[in-house]
This record gives sequence, structure tokens and C-alpha cells, in this order.
Amino acid sequence: MFKLSETHDEIRKTARKLADDLLAPLAAHHDREHLYPAEQVKALAKLGFMGIAVKEDEGGAGVDNLAYAIAMEEVSRGCASTGVVMSVNNSLYCDPVAKFATAEQKKTWLAPFASGARLGCFALSEPGNGSDAGAASCTASVVDDPKLGSCWELNGTKAWITNGCEANAALVFASTDKAAKHKGISAFLVAMPTPGLSLGKKEDKLGIRASSTCNLIFEGCRIPKGNLLGEAGAGFKIAMGTLDGGRIGIAAQALGIAQAALEASVAYSKERLAFGAPIEKLQAIQFKIADMALRLESARLLTWRAATLKDAGVKYTKEAAMAKLAASETATFVAHQAIQIFGGNGYVTEYPVERHYRDARITEIYEGTSEIQRLVIGTNVLKEIGG
Ligand code: CAA
Repeated sequence: MFKLSETHDEIRKTARKLADDLLAPLAAHHDREHLYPAEQVKALAKLGFMGIAVKEDEGGAGVDNLAYAIAMEEVSRGCASTGVVMSVNNSLYCDPVAKFATAEQKKTWLAPFASGARLGCFALSEPGNGSDAGAASCTASVVDDPKLGSCWELNGTKAWITNGCEANAALVFASTDKAAKHKGISAFLVAMPTPGLSLGKKEDKLGIRASSTCNLIFEGCRIPKGNLLGEAGAGFKIAMGTLDGGRIGIAAQALGIAQAALEASVAYSKERLAFGAPIEKLQAIQFKIADMALRLESARLLTWRAATLKDAGVKYTKEAAMAKLAASETATFVAHQAIQIFGGNGYVTEYPVERHYRDARITEIYEGTSEIQRLVIGTNVLKEIGG
């Protein structure tokens, strides 16, 4: 697949226009002020970008995961914070709900979120466990409540929750059977706000500062029995499968950040004079631009391949990990080189590349660190080749 279909090309153009007109002009302001891009998210919803791969009759745009990756890259090229808001709603919230919810559950928990009228978040990590996702200490047990009858009671703290401050619902992973370890983790749909659920402080972050990140604190938080998503004990597999898709989204976010840094570098090297000519004439600059473009285009192909495999309904765990690893390390590399090309101007907020550098860094951490991606790739390759 080396050429996009007409539909995908149209989506790319639409997303690029939105990024140029509405996202990029305000990205620095939102970053500086830690402001949630509410109007921008509304505009994404209008275009169907908050539930791109969700079926139309379930509230989404009814396109596919390749379209999601393409739109995600363009949105993040304009504003990486808006990108992660969109990514979490699409791949960490809507995707598992579309896959595992009953028809009845979907009416409440999917349609309004896929349309972008409401916002979802994903609560897996905890203060004491991130990479070791199976070690959840948050619990859910069955209790009797005067109003709800037999219901679930959640206790514990979930950490690093993107969209936590604005979300209307969370997909929460908690242990219903500690002795069973990862096989005792279950997934729950929790409305926000709900009594017994409070938010921790909004984190003050290095990058993607216009998106919120906070803890979700559950203290005797009671939710109806019917809010279990999928089977009890299936939560870890739901989380892992969801993260496979999420990694495509973060790969695409990283591509957008890298593309923005590359475009800024090219523009700057045409206007900046040194040694009597624009610096684009210097081989030192040309070599940097070549390495930046090469890594970016390679990572894009890996990302599109992973999305296409997901659309084909085949296993894509390794390919999603490869895409995320390549794209996130590319974003860090490209943004680093961009600052080098800009020199002192790259280090100050007057130009956008210092923001791209800060925004790139998280793509190597959330939804599985680069080390976790190497672990996933390595174990899969060893299985494929060694049997
Ligand atoms: N899809 C479906 N099932 C999977 C799977 C996948 N991709 N990967 C593993 N599983 C299943 C296995 O088949 C196995 O099943 P059985 O028990 O039936 O045999 C089970 O899960 C356990 O598998 P492992 O033994 O491989 O699990 P592990 O405990 O060794 O963990 C891991 C593997 C790759 C390290 C995993 O824990 C992992 O991905 N960790 C990183 C977590 C992560 O990405 N966190 C990000 C938080 S989300 C976020 O960032 C929030 C945000 O707001 C942006």
C-alpha cells in the first residue's frame, strides 16, 4: 500500500486544513496557559474525528483505523495536546467499548462518546504500577447498596489519566480476584462524576500541557452491576488489546509532532543566513534534513501498516509496537535536530520547535515505554522465528 485511497486522501486534507486554521495558531497559547482546547475538540467532533473507526449506527464516523492514523497525525501536527485528547477518546475508550459492550451498554457508553458529545478516559496505571500493568492494586468487590442493590464497589487510585479532568466516563481496570493476579482483573465503565470518585491534582507536565492528566481516586465508589465491561477476569486482555490499538494512535501523534518540527526546520533553513547564504545550502543542514525525513517516512509506513493490519482483523501487536517505537523515537530525534538547526532560536518560545521537543518526549513513555515496545517486539520475533 503506497498510495492512499481517495477517501483517506480527503480525510488527510480535511484534517490538515483544520490543523492549519484552528489548531496550530493557538497551540502555543494553549500550551503556555495549560488550557484545554475545548473549541478545537468540538471542531474535531463535528468532523467525526472523535470516533473515526466506530460504526455510524453506533455514533461514529464509520471509517477505519488507517483514517484514524492519518487524521491523528495531521491533528497532532497542528497541536499535539489536542492529538492526545482525540487519541484517548478514539482508541483507549471508544475502541474497547465498541468491541466488548453489549448493545444495551453501547447506547449509554458508546454513541455519545464516539460522536464527541462526551469524552472518555482510560484508567489502567496506578501510582505503584505502570509497566507492570498486571499488578493492579485497585479493587472492585460486590456489595449491597440501599439504592443500587447488588453493585460493585471500587477502591484504590489510578494514575496518569489523560483527559481525567474533562472526561464524562472512565474505563477502569480493577482486581475482582487478587489471588488470580492478572486473570483477576476486570474492566468497568464509570460515569464521571460519581460519588466516591474524586480527582487528584492536575499534573504540571513537560509537554502536551493543554491536555489534562490527573489521578482518579476511588473511595467506596459504587457503580451498578451492569457497568462491568466484558467478562469478569477478562480485564487484562481487554487492556492489552486496547493498548495495541492505542499504540497506533500514539505513533501517529508522534509522526505529527515530527512532521511539524521538520516543516519548521525546512522553512527556517531557507530564511536563516550564515556564511553569506541561506543555511539550506550547507551540507551540514542538508544531512540533518535527510535523516529527519528518512526516519519520519519509515515510521509513517510502519504506522500505516499496523493500522491496515488492524483494519484487516489480523493480529497486529508486534506491528503496533514497532510503529510506536519507531515513531516516538523519531519524534524525539527530529525535534532534537530541529532545535540544533534553529540554534539559540530553537531554545526559546518564540519559535515552535522547543514545544515540539517537549511534546515529543511523552510519546516514548505513555501507552507503553520504548522499553516495553522492545519487549513486545522481541518476544514476538523470538516466537515467530524460533517457534
Ligand atoms: N492482546 C491480548 N492479550 C494479550 C496481549 C495483547 N496484546 N498481550 C498479552 N496478552 C495476554 C497473554 O496472552 C496472557 O494471557 P494468558 O494469561 O491467558 O496466558 C496475558 O495477557 C499475560 O501476558 P504476559 O504474561 O505477556 O503479561 P505480562 O504481565 O508479562 O505483561 C507487558 C506484558 C507487555 C509488560 C504488559 O504488561 C504491558 O504492555 N505493559 C505496559 C502497560 C502500558 O502500556 N501502560 C500504559 C498505560 S495507559 C496510558 O498511557 C494512559 C493514558 O492516558 C495515555
